Amino acid sequence: MMLQIPVKKKHQHQPETTLPANPEDHASFSDVVLCLVEKRMGASRKAFLTSLARRKGFCVEGANSERVTHVVSEGNSGDEVVEWMKRNGSRSVGAAGSGPALLDLSWFTESMSAGQPVEIEPRHCLGVTVHTETLEDRCQVAAYACQRRTPLAHKNQLLVEALETVAEEALFCGSEARNLAFSRAASVVKSLPWTVTGVIEIHSLPCIGEHSRKIIQEVLEDGASAEVENIRQSERYQTMKHFIKIFGVGVKTAGRWYQEGLRTISDLQVHHAKLNSAQQAGLLHYRDLNTPVKRSEAEVIVQVVQKAVDQLLPGASVTLTGGFRRGKPSGHDVDLLITHPTEGQEVGLLSKVICWLDSQGFLLYHSTHRNTFQTFDDPELSVTTATMDHFDRCFSIFCLNYSHKSIKRDSSDREFACEGKGSGDACDWKAVRVDLVVTPNSQFSFALLGWTGSKNFERELRRFSKYEKKMMLNSHTLYHTEKKMFLSAASEEEIFQHLGLDFIPPEERNA
Ligand code: UTP
Ligand code: MN
Repeated sequence: MMLQIPVKKKHQHQPETTLPANPEDHASFSDVVLCLVEKRMGASRKAFLTSLARRKGFCVEGANSERVTHVVSEGNSGDEVVEWMKRNGSRSVGAAGSGPALLDLSWFTESMSAGQPVEIEPRHCLGVTVHTETLEDRCQVAAYACQRRTPLAHKNQLLVEALETVAEEALFCGSEARNLAFSRAASVVKSLPWTVTGVIEIHSLPCIGEHSRKIIQEVLEDGASAEVENIRQSERYQTMKHFIKIFGVGVKTAGRWYQEGLRTISDLQVHHAKLNSAQQAGLLHYRDLNTPVKRSEAEVIVQVVQKAVDQLLPGASVTLTGGFRRGKPSGHDVDLLITHPTEGQEVGLLSKVICWLDSQGFLLYHSTHRNTFQTFDDPELSVTTATMDHFDRCFSIFCLNYSHKSIKRDSSDREFACEGKGSGDACDWKAVRVDLVVTPNSQFSFALLGWTGSKNFERELRRFSKYEKKMMLNSHTLYHTEKKMFLSAASEEEIFQHLGLDFIPPEERNA
């Protein structure tokens, strides 16, 4: 027997005669409210699509409803839609910096077949030339961070911090998928050239899911999100944050320590036996290593390493990468790439550099990893998208300004001698994390691109290469999986060209 569901009466005056009652009670997607543009679609097709949408759980309202978030049209230009909406009583469409998304029917049909609102992509958006410049700009926010320009200074600090906190918490919980989703949302918000003031302004943005939207809304409306504040206050989050700041400690180790009931750095000192040598060094220099490294300090380290390289392999170069190359005034470490114009000359260089630096008293700690990168018979085996690279690489802790040989290098003395370092200048040296990477010249551009970051930008470059271009990118090479060939590049620009991307300079890769 067919179940008869009573249809609710209309609440509002609707200027379009064909719009049936709105069974809002049954809508599944409460923050998506559709409006179908009758112009060119025709009354009967509109009625059919309206009932289809409602059957699928969507809320459909008239043009005059202020709740409308998605305007769907067939065969009209963006400007025609704006005009039609205004004629039919819309007050939100065309308002600068806000208003519903203006979409082509393709978004509607894809959403119907998905059974839920699909993410809005630029191809769904209708371009508008009049009145809605901001709306149009918004539609142009590209889906991948490597297609967007993200300067260091952005306009939505509170929103980004909130989303990044939830992303970090997801990482602490071992949920990589949630971490990625929130990191991507934060990254989109970072790229916006305006300050978001209302949740309606983010409706047409890519990569912002239901949960991120809710957090953004809370921050916009209440100045803070209860969920984010709870995370920040939680003992687990605070402890994890504390532990992962130790050099040599990752999320896994921090999580294990937390499970074991450890909470403070002193707790760790009591359990000294559990620490490996990197972590011991990390603990010893905890304060220094968590004091931001200034650009001027990074430049001194570049000079020191360049001096070493000049003596050991004339012609070899040292390049500052990482956050400093993206224009950051400070960072948590110094990332250096070393190469030589003649391929092969760089072999064995790293260990010599380390020896020299150590003999000169520049190293408080170092750990070297051999190059394991090689071309296998099946190239796809050698081209992984893993973030861990296979260059000759050294994680080190530098002793910056180690000019006074009278300062004992015995670490415990040093820490003792520097007890008052925070308040005075009792100590004239500082421990600084330095990553040294040696690359063959033919891989230099890939290494430069890979080590410049940001992490989000790199991740998106790799994802874009794989899913949009059928290519595998890492810090060594670019491989076309269909053509089954490696693509060489003598500059970062050439890599962007291979990928069909506009070149994004380092200062705009702060995704
Ligand atoms: P960092 O972790 O040093 O980040 O890695 P950063 O952007 O310089 O930030 P701060 O200023 O130090 O805090 C630099 C880049 O090197 C890549 C990462 O993708 C990141 O973008 N990287 C890092 C690798 O490719 N492999 C690694 O093993 C580590
Ligand atoms: Mn860095």
